[in-house]
Amino acid sequence: ATARLPTLIAPARFVPHLPQRSASANKGTFGTLAVIGGANGMMGAPILAARAALYAGAGKIHVGFIGNERPTYDPPHPELMLDQVDGLSLERMSALAIGCGMGQSNAARETLHRALSVDCAKLIDADALNWLARDPEAANLLRAHEGHAVLTPHPLEAARLLGTDVAAIEQDRLRSARTLAARYGATVVLKGSGTVIASADGRHIAVNPTGNAGLATGGSGDVLGGLIGALLAQRMHAFEAACAGVFLHGRAAEALAAEGEGPAGLTAGELAPMFRRLLNRL
Ligand code: APR
Ligand code: MG
Repeated sequence: ATARLPTLIAPARFVPHLPQRSASANKGTFGTLAVIGGANGMMGAPILAARAALYAGAGKIHVGFIGNERPTYDPPHPELMLDQVDGLSLERMSALAIGCGMGQSNAARETLHRALSVDCAKLIDADALNWLARDPEAANLLRAHEGHAVLTPHPLEAARLLGTDVAAIEQDRLRSARTLAARYGATVVLKGSGTVIASADGRHIAVNPTGNAGLATGGSGDVLGGLIGALLAQRMHAFEAACAGVFLHGRAAEALAAEGEGPAGLTAGELAPMFRRLLNRL
């Protein structure tokens, strides 16, 4: 496909594609998301993602932990259903968000293979990306489901996926995102200031104008993953879900900063109630 000029994301680009909440809706209307990750010692990452998915309107949210030291429920959010990942029927989910705090164990790799074999929309982040970079079997499973996945690498994860270094990724971010999208047959969100979104088919490329340095805080990527995962579970298509998620995530940081809640000291979890407010006002 030809490389088009990038567009700046504006709400008009994704608002017509946002989930409609009709009066006769039930929770099944808004999909079921499984957030998969959380090895021992890294359980906060999938919890943050799952909470973000709750605030982004997913109908039901499961967390499938890789580790065995998992919490049984999330006290501030007992709406979330926490399980060991082997106990989840992934075939019943409308979308999977996989990778946050997943770790590099053999169990993580096997879980990734299992998730990639399920035919539903997928958000792939963090350690799931690190596995893709060094496990050809996982990469082949992903390519077999062309167009249904969103990859959210930060520059170092992108460098691992392309077998290069961060300087080369950052030197031409548009090209890096396009190359990754073509290589994996997936929508790619290359994160960082001026996040770039490239569609799987190479026809669309967009740059995000929202966000600030408040987002440079641990867990903000997990929140983005949960937000996009929830939009996928609500049956938005990959490119539109990615654009909407990235835009709203950044706008939420700006709105919080305007109230003095950031950029210094913004906590990733605070983004979710703010993007919920923005989402409901669009
Ligand atoms: N301006 C705008 N946006 C920013 C800025 C900035 N200056 N800094 C960060 N961001 C945004 C990014 O675009 C992205 O959406 O914040 C988010 C950061 O995501 P990550 O880099 O994934 O950060 P985090 O969630 O803390 O993840 C770090 O997860 O990816 C693994 O191995 C990684 O352990 C690490 C952990
Ligand atoms: Mg991250």
